[in-house]
Amino acid sequence: MVQTLGCQMNVHDSRRIHEVLRHQGYEETDAVELADLILVNTCSVREKAEHKLMSLLGRLRPLKEARRDVVLGVAGCVAQQEGERLLKKVPYLDLVLGPDNIPDLPALLADVDAGRRRSLTVFDLDSPRFLAAAPDPAQPEITSFVTVMKGCDERCTYCIVPTTRGAERYRQADEIVAEVSALARGGVREVTLLGQTVNSWYEPGVSRPGLRAPSESAFAELLRRIAHEVPELLRLRYTSPHPRHITPELVQAHAELDLLPAHVHLPAQSGSDAVLKRMSRRYTQREYLERAHALKSARPGFTLSTDLIVGFPGETEEDFLGTLELVREAGFVAAFCFKYSPRPGTPALALGDDVSEELKQERLARLFEVVAEQQSAHLRSLVGTEVEVLVTARGDDGRWEGRSQRHEKVHVELGPTHTVMGELVRVRVAQAFDHSLLALGEGGRLTPPRRHLPVAEEQPA
Ligand code: SAH
Ligand code: SF4
Ligand code: F3S
Repeated sequence: MVQTLGCQMNVHDSRRIHEVLRHQGYEETDAVELADLILVNTCSVREKAEHKLMSLLGRLRPLKEARRDVVLGVAGCVAQQEGERLLKKVPYLDLVLGPDNIPDLPALLADVDAGRRRSLTVFDLDSPRFLAAAPDPAQPEITSFVTVMKGCDERCTYCIVPTTRGAERYRQADEIVAEVSALARGGVREVTLLGQTVNSWYEPGVSRPGLRAPSESAFAELLRRIAHEVPELLRLRYTSPHPRHITPELVQAHAELDLLPAHVHLPAQSGSDAVLKRMSRRYTQREYLERAHALKSARPGFTLSTDLIVGFPGETEEDFLGTLELVREAGFVAAFCFKYSPRPGTPALALGDDVSEELKQERLARLFEVVAEQQSAHLRSLVGTEVEVLVTARGDDGRWEGRSQRHEKVHVELGPTHTVMGELVRVRVAQAFDHSLLALGEGGRLTPPRRHLPVAEEQPA
């Protein structure tokens, strides 16, 4: 059993862990009492996430004590952060596994079987390994992740990720395109390219463009290459982009490539220049908004969502009002909002944690209110319009479920029809809920899989 906490990187890593274990003859179970191996893939981005792990381990303790042969392991970012220390802190733990050490899992499990508790948390800095996602015929996927870079060199002052995921390492374009292509041929319809600052991607071994010459963008080229070389793919997303790598070429790619959705999740963190500077985000409110508006004008109906932090050290009421202003000006249709949480070893620790819990809570609530209002106004504005939904699930109520071209969650009611799983359906929005839409298919009008290449261009042979 693998339990996943944290972000998409962990969701993706957990799939790779499953794959490695399947090759070892393991089968996944949802029943904790049946499991011979329990692996928790952890997150440490905020203190709360770390607490979650500790309480989960506490709950697993009686089980481990009753059945000594059960192997209990911790993977992911807390594993990387704590290493050996975690084995000392949690005496009933058998295994600690860093995010770059998933391929070493079989050898570590053999050691554990031989009675040795093991910890391996070594970054693969010299020859980075990017585990490819082989399509699994037994569990066909409609959407999938593909890693293009790992680690982070940005060092935003509040963030632990550069410690838990290490220095930036980039993957060869040929390897990325080959993986996307194999997935698409295996039936995957939507790929999300993954990286902590995904749009800073450049071809390893080639001198780095983009830093001083924002008119160059290797990432936009990568998107174009995938669009041209993988005609089976219906959608190509990426997460998380950093605002300072939103180049004119990337905006242009959004304008030209139908394959890219009309939506980007672009973390802003704050709307106050003073706070952004202390966070070391390297853009101002104005620069963020310029890039946001450029993206939004690339395509009609383009939307943005974001991540925001309240209560960063020294944040005044005026700073916070700057964040509210940014939310309104950028017109975010969704946002993940967090209270600042001091993390071990981060530069922001030196700034103290001077915004009281009460004030953080109050600002969070005010922020939620503005975001929720914008979200529901946006969803209401879509009633009566047509959306293109990539169908990825069917609910218990018989309704199909999927995401629109802008990433809104859509429940789809079709008349009697054959399965539309994995297909794009064009439907009309009938009703808006708080966080999703209901659309009716009028007897199930299906769009044929569309070509996303400009008509004049030739398909690669
Ligand atoms: N690489 C991504 C985000 C990784 S962490 C990016 O740069 O966009 C996901 C989100 O967690 C961040 O965007 C930030 O909003 C939040 N976060 C990170 N560290 C935090 C901290 N110490 N306290 C509160 N929120 C934090
Ligand atoms: Fe953390 Fe900043 Fe890197 Fe994102 S860009 S992972 S917030 S240091
Ligand atoms: Fe992701 Fe959490 Fe690690 S957000 S990178 S799992 S610290």
